[in-house]
Amino acid sequence: MGITRRDFLTRVGQAGGYSAAFLTMQGLGLLEAKAAPAVSISAAAGSGKGTKVVVLGGGIAGLVAAYELRALGYECTILEARERPGGRNWTVRGGDKVAFLDGTAQSCTWDQGHYQNFGPARLPSIHPTILGYCKKLGVELQVEVNMSRSAYLQNDNANGGKPAVMREVVNDTRGHVSELLSKSIHQGALDQDLSKEDRDRMLGFLRTYGPLDEAGKYNGSDRAGYARTAGAGDQTGVLNQPIDMHTLLDESFWQGMLFDEQFDMQATMFQPVGGMDRIPYAFAKALGDAVKYDSPVTEIRKSPKGVTVTYKQKGSTKTIEADYCICTMPLTLLRSTPNDFSAPYKKVIDECTYASAYKIAWESRRFWEQDYNIYGGLEFVTTGCSPIWFPSAGLFSDRGVLVSGYTDESNSPFGKLTVQEKLAESRKSIERLHPGHGKELEKPMYVSWGKMQYNEGSWIRSYGPGQQRAGARSAQPGQVQPAASARTAVNPGYETLIQPDGRIIFAGDHVSHIVAWQEGAALSALRAVGQVADQVKAAKLANGADKAISA
Ligand code: ALA
Repeated sequence: MGITRRDFLTRVGQAGGYSAAFLTMQGLGLLEAKAAPAVSISAAAGSGKGTKVVVLGGGIAGLVAAYELRALGYECTILEARERPGGRNWTVRGGDKVAFLDGTAQSCTWDQGHYQNFGPARLPSIHPTILGYCKKLGVELQVEVNMSRSAYLQNDNANGGKPAVMREVVNDTRGHVSELLSKSIHQGALDQDLSKEDRDRMLGFLRTYGPLDEAGKYNGSDRAGYARTAGAGDQTGVLNQPIDMHTLLDESFWQGMLFDEQFDMQATMFQPVGGMDRIPYAFAKALGDAVKYDSPVTEIRKSPKGVTVTYKQKGSTKTIEADYCICTMPLTLLRSTPNDFSAPYKKVIDECTYASAYKIAWESRRFWEQDYNIYGGLEFVTTGCSPIWFPSAGLFSDRGVLVSGYTDESNSPFGKLTVQEKLAESRKSIERLHPGHGKELEKPMYVSWGKMQYNEGSWIRSYGPGQQRAGARSAQPGQVQPAASARTAVNPGYETLIQPDGRIIFAGDHVSHIVAWQEGAALSALRAVGQVADQVKAAKLANGADKAISA
């Protein structure tokens, strides 16, 4: 007997759950194939009933995991070491304290309404999972301006140390490259590679793309901006003179110019209104008392029935027994947490290395907006603190908070400077780009994740000797990575971490190919919940089979 398409889908849904039905509908052409759906765990509603899961760490991975586990009916507790949710998703405002492991502390005295996201500070539009949670939890988003054509690039050893404006660098480079290609075609250098028709088509394209004149020359263009802008009356516009090719081939210029071509950095980008921590606080609100704050984990043990985790709470030692554990703690912390992990996991934990990204933020008059017409975006300098990152919130207000310096400082000469020296370097970078404005910077705040208790690193750099993590920006947040570092690298340490260690399952951005992004953390959490659900399903099946045999 034939079955209808609806019957078929219903049966697929019953047998394989939501994601199987979803994939089948895609296969049948009933649903447009989109980037990962916000949630795709193959488990039936209520299937978690009677099963207890302890989640270690209340950062994005832990919060997503607990949120989804509870939706499936699991009994779930998050142990979070700090008094707040979010982990590295941390927004600092006036009144907050930054304390480092070495005992030093800074107090933030910024004006009300000012803030800095010292961890994640941008949400790419191509990260649908974390954006999906923002929508679901009612976190209001606004545009994060990641790049402005009015922003500057500077190198002490190029262009006489003079800053160049992004729109000139981008468009003059394009003009020069087009002119060279046009010349090569005219000289017959590409006769073997292109048909006559395609050569003509290419020349036509280059005339517009460059733009080039009829003779194939680049003479500058309004795309690169004006030395004198056009106005009323007799004020005609005067174009900028093109920057010469030699200057533009300077690495700092083309690096800065290509920054927002990287997949994750492309417009449009977003940020929550009021600070990135709106996301963890929204999760925390939904999770209620499932999150136990001020509860640092001190021991992780396997037990005959599951997992036993010991933690501290207000000075006393407590334990929690659970059937499963999702461990999102940074590997740097697991190193010093007594545990029963199997040997391959201990090896990754011992041998991995983490970056220590820092940001230095200052309060200032918005000279970049008021004197330079720069609204949001990044600037790059070659020597000193880079990039400079202008705020996207509070545009047109009098004062704001900007970042001058955001880099991995571990194993770098910069990392060895005193904090005062680092702040001086940060101020100097502003002076290089916008002379006279370094002195407008006030109330500096410096956060370096390697110095933070409960982090001891910003993001994983390698999973062991020779095992660089997959993904872009493995070197520096402000640098463009060659295409060869695309997210394809797989290494033994990573392969270990993505497998359950019995009833302990690892999650966090370090257990994804999207390291240093909340999207990676969220996706790893979804996968971990799926792995718990699979084990629960398998255990129930085995249990049923045992009963059938003994009956
Ligand atoms: N996600 C980090 C950034 O936005 C690396 O810079």
